[in-house]
Amino acid sequence: MATAQKESEQNDCHAGFQSAFKSFATVAIHVGQEPEQWKSMAVVPPISLSTTFKQYGPGKHAGFEYSRSGNPTRNCLEKAVAALDGGKYCLALASGLAATMTITHMLKSGDGIVCMDDVYGGTNRYFQRIATELGLKVDFADCTQPEKLKAALKPNTKLVWIETPTNPTMKVVDIRACSDLVHKHNKDIVVVVDNTFMSAYFQRPLALGADICMYSATKYMNGHSDVVMGLVSVSRDDLYERLKFLQNALGAVPSPFDCYLCNRGLKTLHLRMEQHFKGGLAAAKFLEADPRVERVIFPGLPSHPQHDVMKKQCTGCPGMITFYIKGQLEHASAFLSNLKLFSIAESLGGYESLAEHPAIMTHASVPEKEREVLGISDTLIRLSVGLENVEDVIKDLDQALNAAHPKQ
Ligand SMILES: Cc1ncc(COP(=O)(O)O)c(C=O)c1O
Repeated sequence: MATAQKESEQNDCHAGFQSAFKSFATVAIHVGQEPEQWKSMAVVPPISLSTTFKQYGPGKHAGFEYSRSGNPTRNCLEKAVAALDGGKYCLALASGLAATMTITHMLKSGDGIVCMDDVYGGTNRYFQRIATELGLKVDFADCTQPEKLKAALKPNTKLVWIETPTNPTMKVVDIRACSDLVHKHNKDIVVVVDNTFMSAYFQRPLALGADICMYSATKYMNGHSDVVMGLVSVSRDDLYERLKFLQNALGAVPSPFDCYLCNRGLKTLHLRMEQHFKGGLAAAKFLEADPRVERVIFPGLPSHPQHDVMKKQCTGCPGMITFYIKGQLEHASAFLSNLKLFSIAESLGGYESLAEHPAIMTHASVPEKEREVLGISDTLIRLSVGLENVEDVIKDLDQALNAAHPKQ
């Protein structure tokens, strides 16, 4: 688990208020939310819907001109997330994929990207079918083996994209080892970590050497399955300048209402993540002990191949479990169709439990051959354990397993 020293190093990055209050919960609740910033002294940040802002004279304004380039409600959210990530800056975008697109636009035709081999299906599709159309060269490497990442680096490599744990096979990448290796090879290569699964509460990629920490905030960061959003945190001034320019110039910004909701979601992130961890671990242990289950992949279990890396760089695990049910596609389908408390649905990280079939749903856009290599098979099921009573969660899994594998 991350040491207190690491924690304090991260928090030292925070300015002013944060240095006085080092706890994650206090930062989540107060940073960027100061009532003094509003004439009304509102304790809860108002939703600032105005698209434009009055200027005292041409070019003389109070910090905001036009809502795409800057918005007061978005500003509150961005400040809070930057502080939680131990970064200097954060930029909110319209979705996780809008964040991926905005980051990728820092590159130019001919530049290279090395991407973790197992990533969210939409990230894979964006790199393979859109980034390549823009003239970028994309290679995939299993970054759980840093020597494979090293072998994939080329003279034109400008970006390394790591997702950890990966979606859906839950591989854990050593962020410190990969960042050091890449920067030693060429300090100008930008290392991005997709931190969607862990959230800022369990993992701080910037403190582990990454240059950019990004999220699909649609998931745990908002946590209520009612916002689609992306977040990008950085500490380097040059990266921030470029990304801030792109946020405005590409224009993939979230609405003030969504910023308000996500900012509100952050206030309970620490509580939610602790409970997701408890529920996820209990459900993973139940599944691992069940004879109807072939294999469980949960980084919090000692059986996970990178359990030690997880313990070194994270302070806990989210409620994400991937498992192979015994049998064929029909057994996976029967299990999913018989769940009562879990909804069969894409997405993850909300307060409600969700289950899905990656090969048919979230990762259908990954070419079949690649799915085979990655182990995204017909019997693979992904669970997002929500915040319901843990016994009820396990009861539901048990009865759905019974339906898939009726006792003879
Ligand atoms: C790990 C990960 N990264 C990125 C994304 C894309 O985010 P969004 O759906 O908000 O565009 C997702 C979506 O599921 C995801 O799971």
